[in-house]
Amino acid sequence: MSHEPLRNDAGLLDAYLTNLETRPTPMTVPGHKRLAGLLDDGLGIVVDRDIQLYGGLDTVKLTNDTLGHAERRMAEYYGADWCRFSVGGSTHANQALCLALGQPGDTIIVNRSLHRSMLIGFVLAGLNPVWLPTEIDDASGLPMGVSLESVTAAINAHPDAVAVALVEPGYLGTTSEVKAIIDLVHAHGLRVVVDQAWGAHFGLHPDLPAHAMALGADALVTSVHKLLVGYTQASILVANTDVLDVDRLERGFEATSTTSPAGSILASIDGSRALVEQRGEELMEHTLGLVRRARQRLGEDVPGIGLPDEHSVPGGRFDPTRFIIQLPQIGADGVQIEKQLMNDGISFELVDRDTLLAMVTIADTQESVDTLLDALIPALHAGRGEPRRLPAALSWRVSPTTATSPREAFFAPHERVSADQAVGRVSAELIAPYPPGVPVLAPGEVITKVLLDGLREAAADGVRIAYAADPTLATFEVVAKER
Ligand SMILES: Cc1ncc(COP(=O)(O)O)c(C=O)c1O
Repeated sequence: MSHEPLRNDAGLLDAYLTNLETRPTPMTVPGHKRLAGLLDDGLGIVVDRDIQLYGGLDTVKLTNDTLGHAERRMAEYYGADWCRFSVGGSTHANQALCLALGQPGDTIIVNRSLHRSMLIGFVLAGLNPVWLPTEIDDASGLPMGVSLESVTAAINAHPDAVAVALVEPGYLGTTSEVKAIIDLVHAHGLRVVVDQAWGAHFGLHPDLPAHAMALGADALVTSVHKLLVGYTQASILVANTDVLDVDRLERGFEATSTTSPAGSILASIDGSRALVEQRGEELMEHTLGLVRRARQRLGEDVPGIGLPDEHSVPGGRFDPTRFIIQLPQIGADGVQIEKQLMNDGISFELVDRDTLLAMVTIADTQESVDTLLDALIPALHAGRGEPRRLPAALSWRVSPTTATSPREAFFAPHERVSADQAVGRVSAELIAPYPPGVPVLAPGEVITKVLLDGLREAAADGVRIAYAADPTLATFEVVAKER
């Protein structure tokens, strides 16, 4: 079937392609002359499609308002009145949002399973988090977001909070009861913002969860480069300015943005919007079919394997495209399976000993999914072992003891001590097994023996311990004792 070229409905994509099709002579920086190939073929391949926004997709003075127009189209798509395109990922969008929410010293109520980018946003903005614990489904070991009860308790205990921030869906595709929580928070007169980095496809098909703006959120962040076809780092921040202050949003966004945005990233965001407006439901129907068939084949060929889906997860609170493969039931080791499959050029989004997460998306085909399963099924048979119980990963089990705000600890004098000496001390650093990049230790939190053992166990299971000053976990950066 032929489709209308997306550039006809996406001004930034059209501007990008038009620039490529012409031979402008920009007397500006060498990387924008599209002549790097004269210096080296390889460098040319990387650089000669790099078209900047200023003087590339638009005039240097932005007289055509191409970006503004595309951002307004996106805001409209989300039923919102404000949107900015970010070339710094949802990391930037989250941090810009944090800068728009309150004053230094204000309280924000937030999932403990937030991404590190938002936590660093609190450091920048001086917001003090009150944590909502992650609910865990005992049957599947999956994190299920946060409960209505915990949100109610947090609001009652902190009525002065400036907002509630949610992460929906979580990394494994599960969600809280998002609509009920948003309604509850609004009933208390507070604002709700949602990090929906992994939900750019939400709302595109009746079998998918609705996106957070449709459920009443006041702002949403999503990574277009995750579940749509954005260039790496493509992300958006969307908001309703009858609730959030537009000047603060603009200032927070600009303060943390590059002044030289890459046109390829911006064009891919606009093109992705046009793509899903034109064919969103059809593409998701295709994706859902691929995942459902993959689960069926894997379940039949590898009896006993864990394959959570929207029917098994409590309340159906699950992104049905998320192809999660749980291994404890068949005693296989995810890290070993990953090593084997890497030899065939196959990689996963998330791997730990107990879980493989394969992203099956609108850019997959039956052939790509078959390639995965043809390699995976024999590896699973060969890797079968003694069944284990289904534990929840450390990232979802953290119950922190807070000594100071993240910002105070971040800027405090610190020192490096051995792991044993670190127990009982206040962390100056953020540590997160990656993926999912959820901090299990944040600046300002007390390092406990339970946490240290959990981190060591994750490392021994082959999980990368990210952002730690010493990833071997032999030493930790702690807040220095007052002398
Ligand atoms: C929930 C969540 N928020 C934000 C981010 C940051 O996104 P980006 O990589 O686009 O900066 C991630 C990245 O994995 C994430 O999982």
